[in-house]
Amino acid sequence: MPLRDGRFERSLDEAMRRLNASIPFDRRLHAEDIRGSVAWARALRRAGLLDDAELGRIEKGLEEIAGEIRGGSFPFSEELEDVHMNIEARLTEKIGAAGEKLHTGRSRNDQVATDLRLHAREAATRLAALVEALMGALVEVAEREFGQVIPAYTHLQRAQPVLLSHHLLAYVEMLDRDTRRLRAARDAADLCPLGSGACVGNQFGIDRDFLARELGFAGVTRNSLDAVSDRDFALDFLHAAAVLMVHLSRLAEDLVLWSSAEFGLARLDDSVTTGSSMLPQKRNPDAAELARGKCGRVAGHLVGLLMTLKGLPLSYNKDLQEDKEPVFDAIDTLDLLLPVFAAMVRTMAIDSRRTAERLEGGFLEAIAAADYLTRRGVPFREAHRIAGRAVREAEKRGVTLAALPLEAYRALCDRFEEDLFEAISTDGALADKTVVGGTAPARVWEEIGRWKVELGRRGGGRSAAGG
Ligand code: ARG
Repeated sequence: MPLRDGRFERSLDEAMRRLNASIPFDRRLHAEDIRGSVAWARALRRAGLLDDAELGRIEKGLEEIAGEIRGGSFPFSEELEDVHMNIEARLTEKIGAAGEKLHTGRSRNDQVATDLRLHAREAATRLAALVEALMGALVEVAEREFGQVIPAYTHLQRAQPVLLSHHLLAYVEMLDRDTRRLRAARDAADLCPLGSGACVGNQFGIDRDFLARELGFAGVTRNSLDAVSDRDFALDFLHAAAVLMVHLSRLAEDLVLWSSAEFGLARLDDSVTTGSSMLPQKRNPDAAELARGKCGRVAGHLVGLLMTLKGLPLSYNKDLQEDKEPVFDAIDTLDLLLPVFAAMVRTMAIDSRRTAERLEGGFLEAIAAADYLTRRGVPFREAHRIAGRAVREAEKRGVTLAALPLEAYRALCDRFEEDLFEAISTDGALADKTVVGGTAPARVWEEIGRWKVELGRRGGGRSAAGG
């Protein structure tokens, strides 16, 4: 028991052992830990603390251990607390004395900070690419369904006609901000804490810039006390993950509503819907509901880690062992959800008969009628009143605004002419929203093209971006 051989007389209480051990979850960091140890051994060699033969044995031993872990034969032990001690102890078991030199000048405190940074960095890059794949699916449907018109809602009340594509591209905007947050989180993790020791640095002339280069970090951390206890990069990652989950839950809610009989705008594919154990007719949008449900969990991880860090004295404290599970769970949740969302979006069918029906009878043309008068010089407030009266009149007669005869309009205001009906038609109401960011078809088509170029560019550059 390498950790207790020296100082302790009695063995660890059994319940304490279980409380203390992080190996059940931090074994996930094995690849990062081995990578960090190889870099550390090379730095020790450069500082003259290992000879070539010892470095060779350490590198070979670590490589074998990596193979054992991948192959499932590695003897993980709770007695050895965590992934760091498990790997180090196994190395010594395999190669003897040289293994005992590996931890020279290093602490698990700078080691675990390094491992988690490497892990978060890789995950943030991968998740950003998965988000871009979902953006691609949304853009694809925006292009495929171009021309479909649905009501735009405010207060979940039908407001104005909008292109379905415009609605889908709203999510592309949200998700694009998520990719930026994820990449910022990646950059926040991109400094190397190795060499900070337990808390005050080390005395062995270790070249930290060399370590950073070996591990592909952009630079080194500048204060050892901060380096071993800083988890801001994990907060940044969880914040990016939580906001992304909020966006997925909003898209989820739209899809749940759209696929209900009451809305009936979209039909989710069999491959992403589930049945009911009791009700034979059901096709449930479980993927969307799970995203909505898991949002609370990931947001909770962010708040949880904030609370873990609150009030911690410098520098490392064991509280920090609580940093890993929330990060891992956020990664796993998003790794699961994002591909399902891409599939769910790509395969959804839009019911054009229902979308057309949804535009009828809601008096969505009212604002277009007011705008028509405004363009003819009627002050907007007055135009608003007149259009409101037209709605009241149409309601009384049980007709749509399009079916209300011109005389009825002219009875309310003599500026109404025959061309009113073109202006308040769905096409008319869409075509004039030409402002940047508006739903005019020409604008939306431009946006679809812009996103296709942008996502193509990012997809092309992605393989080179690396962890
Ligand atoms: N398992 C620990 C963690 O996850 C590693 C660092 C332990 N350091 C220590 N001084 N006990 O934080």
